[in-house]
Amino acid sequence: MYRTNTCDELTSAHEGQKVTLAGWVHRRRDHGGVIFIDLRDRYGLTQIVSDPNNYIDAHNLMNETRSEYVLQIEGSVRKRPDGQANPNLHTGEIEILVEKVIILNVAKTPPFEIDQEKEVGEELRLKYRYLDLRHDRLKNNMILRHKVIKYIRDYMDENDFIEVETPILIKGTPEGSREYLVPSRIYPGTFYVLPQSPQQLKQLLMVAGFDRYFQIARCFRDEDQRGDRQPEFTQLDVEMSFINEEDIMKINEGLLIDLVKKFVPHKKIAQTPFPVLTFEEAMNIYGSDKPDLRFDMPLSDITDIATECGFGVFKSVAEKGGVVKALKVSDGAKFTRKEIDEFEEVAKIYGAKGLAYLIHGEEGLKSNIAKFFSPEDLQEIVERCESKVGDIIFFTADNFKIACESLGKVRLAVAQKFELLDKDLFAFCWVKDFPMFELDEETKKLNAVHHPFTSPKDPEEFEKNPENALALAYDIVLNGVEVGGGSIRIHNRDTQKKVFDALGITDADAEKRFGHMMEAFQYGAPPHGGIAWGLDRLIMIFADEPNIREVIAFPKDQKAKDLMLGAPSVMPEDQISELHIKTIAKES
Ligand code: AMO
Ligand code: AMP
Repeated sequence: MYRTNTCDELTSAHEGQKVTLAGWVHRRRDHGGVIFIDLRDRYGLTQIVSDPNNYIDAHNLMNETRSEYVLQIEGSVRKRPDGQANPNLHTGEIEILVEKVIILNVAKTPPFEIDQEKEVGEELRLKYRYLDLRHDRLKNNMILRHKVIKYIRDYMDENDFIEVETPILIKGTPEGSREYLVPSRIYPGTFYVLPQSPQQLKQLLMVAGFDRYFQIARCFRDEDQRGDRQPEFTQLDVEMSFINEEDIMKINEGLLIDLVKKFVPHKKIAQTPFPVLTFEEAMNIYGSDKPDLRFDMPLSDITDIATECGFGVFKSVAEKGGVVKALKVSDGAKFTRKEIDEFEEVAKIYGAKGLAYLIHGEEGLKSNIAKFFSPEDLQEIVERCESKVGDIIFFTADNFKIACESLGKVRLAVAQKFELLDKDLFAFCWVKDFPMFELDEETKKLNAVHHPFTSPKDPEEFEKNPENALALAYDIVLNGVEVGGGSIRIHNRDTQKKVFDALGITDADAEKRFGHMMEAFQYGAPPHGGIAWGLDRLIMIFADEPNIREVIAFPKDQKAKDLMLGAPSVMPEDQISELHIKTIAKES
């Protein structure tokens, strides 16, 4: 037997027992001839101590060890002397008096310290990820991830879902990102595509009559990386038959609430049932389709007042069908010029042309634009924004999207700067009724906002006016992060064809790309719908981490590289030519 106990097991109840432990040298201290080592394994730490008078060989070997050496030790459990107990450690009452030491392996000096959580450059951490994972924080994130996923599997099983694995080598599925391609060796000039999600396969499982499917599914998207994006990531992927939006929301909401209670009980859920906002409301009130509801600070609309005012910028935007949005910030009158400029910069990043403001002083609203408004209009602005003396009101005037979004970002920037975000609050909400399509300004073509299998909310309205149609699509948002999204699907071939038409997908193209779906839908496709959670994102928020790399064992860096493995990498020419392809670029 390699060990009788783990490094987190022994307490004063084991006093006098002979034990064998195995683990890493976490910390080593030489106290005038007696050597102490904190021996570490996944479970915890145990202090071991040498006795040069009685066990000189063991002592000498302990003397040879360095950080991260791997040891097997034998000895007896004894209580630490009075006053030496460590109440922060499960094994803090005892230590092991070492009789025998075997050095199982030596270790080079690690490139960063393992026994402390110090700032270390992420590049180094990713290159030596197996050492980084020795840190408690990352290890605990992995354990949390494992437990959350296990709980999800049990919950889904109890609710009659079955987990079905779907293939990784597939044909393209449209989720709006660039796809990863895998060249086929057997069929020259052809490619498999890695799934952006199992979207089509789960719909085909509904056609197969599986009724309730889920999968902890790996998805691949060749898109620009950000803190909450990775080229491969994990979804909880769900599909259900004979359901409506509410059914899907209910089952997902139940699971989310359970997970919070079980794994992050110190987090308070702001509101249950989760609030439901339409896309339009979310944009109008919070300037975001993933509103952070941990704080209120709603936007107001003053487009009607702007139409009448003398400020050319506002007036012309309002006359051209744009909107003027207002954001009142309580106690904001004290903002310095520099702070206001910083908020204007934020608005500009998101397309705003400026950030006008009015300061609410004792004599009413004042600034360089106040003169353009009548006293009645200023009073109306005060009332609409519920402004009081000491507040500031910011304005953006632009098309609906830019005016709302840029002011929404100012809203967030204010909350961050003035620490209005309660760290222990979980504000979930559903956002639904998204537009079916968005116009690509360059190509002037419509693109699906969700994906082209999403059902229109009102099929008649959709036929009359496809550009403005709403979709039966919904997102689940937590603290301003989109943690999941889904939709009710089209299950009828005619509607599907009309959606393809609106997207400018010709019959021939649809046949080529989605012929299998169109074919399948002719064999009795049930009404169905589903959702997928970004599991990495959810666990990131559970773990209070700033990005999803911290909850993924072996993530890619921000430029999609695996720094540990060195992927992507140049491949031998013969292996490439076997795939009937030629590389024209050399590694940069
Ligand atoms: P969607 O594309 O919205 O929907 O993806 C679902 C959720 O997955 C997460 N996510 C990501 N997480 C990390 N890195 C990424 N690159 C990334 N991209 C997305 C988000 C998102 O909400 N097939 C549909 C679902 C459906 O309709 O059922 C889909 O994939 O949290
Ligand atoms: P100007 O008259 O251009 O000096 O602008 C006066 C104020 O209006 C400045 O604070 C600008 O930031 C702001 N501003 C200009 N364009 C817009 C706009 N489209 N929306 C909101 N504020 C704007």
